[in-house]
Amino acid sequence: MADGRYEEPEFTSERLVTSSADDVERAAEAALRPKRLEEFVGQSVVRDQLSLVLQAALARGAAPDHVLLSGPPGLGKTTLAMIIASELGTSLRVTSGPAIQHAGDLAAVLSSLEEGEVLFIDEIHRLARPAEELLYVAMEDFRVDVVVGKGAGASAIPLALPPFTVVGATTRAGLLPAPLRDRFGFTGHLDFYDAPELERVILRSAGLLGVEIHHAAAHEIAGRSRGTPRIANRLLRRVRDWAQVRGDGRLDLTAARAALEVYEVDPVGLDRLDRSVLDALCRRFAGGPVGLSTLAMTVGEEPDTVETVAEPFLVREGFVARTPRGRVATAQAWSHLGLTPPAGAPGSLAGTLFDDAGTDPEGGSGNLQGL
Ligand SMILES: Nc1ncnc2c1ncn2[C@@H]1O[C@H](COP(=O)(O)OP(=O)(O)OP(=O)(O)O)[C@@H](O)[C@H]1O
Ligand SMILES: [Mg+2]
Repeated sequence: MADGRYEEPEFTSERLVTSSADDVERAAEAALRPKRLEEFVGQSVVRDQLSLVLQAALARGAAPDHVLLSGPPGLGKTTLAMIIASELGTSLRVTSGPAIQHAGDLAAVLSSLEEGEVLFIDEIHRLARPAEELLYVAMEDFRVDVVVGKGAGASAIPLALPPFTVVGATTRAGLLPAPLRDRFGFTGHLDFYDAPELERVILRSAGLLGVEIHHAAAHEIAGRSRGTPRIANRLLRRVRDWAQVRGDGRLDLTAARAALEVYEVDPVGLDRLDRSVLDALCRRFAGGPVGLSTLAMTVGEEPDTVETVAEPFLVREGFVARTPRGRVATAQAWSHLGLTPPAGAPGSLAGTLFDDAGTDPEGGSGNLQGL
């Protein structure tokens, strides 16, 4: 902070390593968002492809194809949507699937669009069916049928729309109906970031926050950020808090390690809930298999919390495997807890089982459709 006052940490009761964000955090994030494509760190495949789509459209002086961005929370979908509008030099209109209750709401948004504008529809997989059907026509024919009257006397008056670009974002591309998916000329799938990329995100954010950070600290934070820029930025803010209150204001390795210890984020990014799941699996159930509800009860959480909050990362990183008979601890889980797996414990199953949380089967790292 510019005036050097201590700011209450925004997340005292929340999990520090969750990849979703609340309103307070979204406001803090706005300041850290890259504004141009060249500032956007990582995702080189999607970035290059998108850059071509945008440059070609600019050269033709026409609105580019509709763009669908998919991928887990916190990887930069909203950021890219904003970048698309600013690269095109146009304005961004923002709405979301859940905000559109009726087809009429969408018709109102569409009919107020100006030529070349970008319409960002967040969580597009949550659009109601009638709105979705209206959107098909608008995206393909730049037309919206305005229904006047009710019942038998109702008639549809076609209203021509100026060319515009829809940017849809979804964490669940698999839930999008095929006709909607097909109307996007370009689909970019965002993947988790590697540690060097996250390090760059952290160094950039520290610069914007006006704090001095050592490379070793950025490296340490990156390793605990679960492949997610949102988490990297959040951990950076917590380390900054620690440095300000207990350190000398500098973000060095000591500050990073000490802060993340206070917040119970371990060296690979597991928090208390993740570790208690692993602990229960290994110590109480000898590595499993154990059913989800039993496991959840043991750690004092709802099954849904364990399944959607802790498990995706544990499975992705190869600590836990899902089998038809229940959850199983891998060799990596045992060694992470400093335990020796009993003879006959399942080996490391990392990578051999499909992680169905947060990935979507269709997503490559970006593909061109309809060319
Ligand atoms: N490639 C990147 N380079 C730098 N910062 C990034 C990058 N991607 C994301 N961020 C930062 O991470 C934060 C979260 O990104 P963003 O809001 O775009 O994620 P999202 O994919 O839209 O998440 P959600 O699915 O929850 O809406 C932002 O503050 C943004 O600044
Ligand atoms: Mg978003």
